Amino acid sequence: MQIAVLGTGMVGQAHAAKLSELGHEVFIGTRDVQKSLAKAGGQITEPFGEWAKQHPKVKVVEFQEAIKHGDLIVEALSGNAVVETLKSCEKRLAGKTLIDISNPLDFSNGDFKLTVCNDDSLGEQVQRALPSVKVVKAFNTVNAAVQVNPESVASGDHHLFIAGDHKESKYFVNEIAMEWYGWKNVIDLGGIKSARGMEMILPLWVNLFTVMGTPKFNFKVTQWDSVVLD
Ligand SMILES: NC(=O)c1ccc[n+]([C@@H]2O[C@H](COP(=O)([O-])OP(=O)(O)OC[C@H]3O[C@@H](n4cnc5c(N)ncnc54)[C@H](OP(=O)(O)O)[C@@H]3O)[C@@H](O)[C@H]2O)c1
Repeated sequence: MQIAVLGTGMVGQAHAAKLSELGHEVFIGTRDVQKSLAKAGGQITEPFGEWAKQHPKVKVVEFQEAIKHGDLIVEALSGNAVVETLKSCEKRLAGKTLIDISNPLDFSNGDFKLTVCNDDSLGEQVQRALPSVKVVKAFNTVNAAVQVNPESVASGDHHLFIAGDHKESKYFVNEIAMEWYGWKNVIDLGGIKSARGMEMILPLWVNLFTVMGTPKFNFKVTQWDSVVLD
């Protein structure tokens, strides 16, 4: 399958590498290919150019080009850039399933806050802005490495949440999570409105990360032993 992964950060890299390893043709999207390939690494990430060299099958292209090729869209963009970036690609996104992994986080004041919560969510904003796109919120409550390798935490004995208004697309994302990535437990929380809870869990996630000293953990919902799809 041809897949567009939008975002060159930790999440985009994790999904692009995994999907390529699984045999899919992957196009990783960025604003500016040359700038991204020349970018220095982060505190815990290597330079993107090094990552690209290690994954020669993944094609590094601009967002529009990635979306043109992708039958499935995996979106892992910085929260503040999601709606505007996707809106500018609306025509090419029409009719496609889009996995929204982003979180509406603002770190600009040293601490962080959610830029939308309680009565709206970034997932809903994306779905409202792009009604022809089938948005499925997923993976945003888990660290990038764990998203594509759930076995790495407690042998996979923990939960992934998904939400969206399009049933067939949710079935597909459920299949990607379980059959492709190896998730054992996926809970469908309902319509895209349920993205609110999935995003509002982030303050707790960041708090846990701080006290545990590792991002490799996840939430387990007990007394739930099967995949539930509405
Ligand atoms: N890191 C994790 O483990 C994790 C886990 C769960 C969810 N998330 C969420 O997943 C998303 C991606 O996280 P990340 O850590 O992989 O990377 P990130 O640093 O949050 O985002 C990187 C991507 O955002 C794009 N971007 C930034 N500003 C932009 C702008 N003004 N216009 C267009 N694109 C812009 C960058 O484009 P360029 O390629 O052009 O630089 C890059 O591709 C975030 O929303 C994050 O909250 C992250």
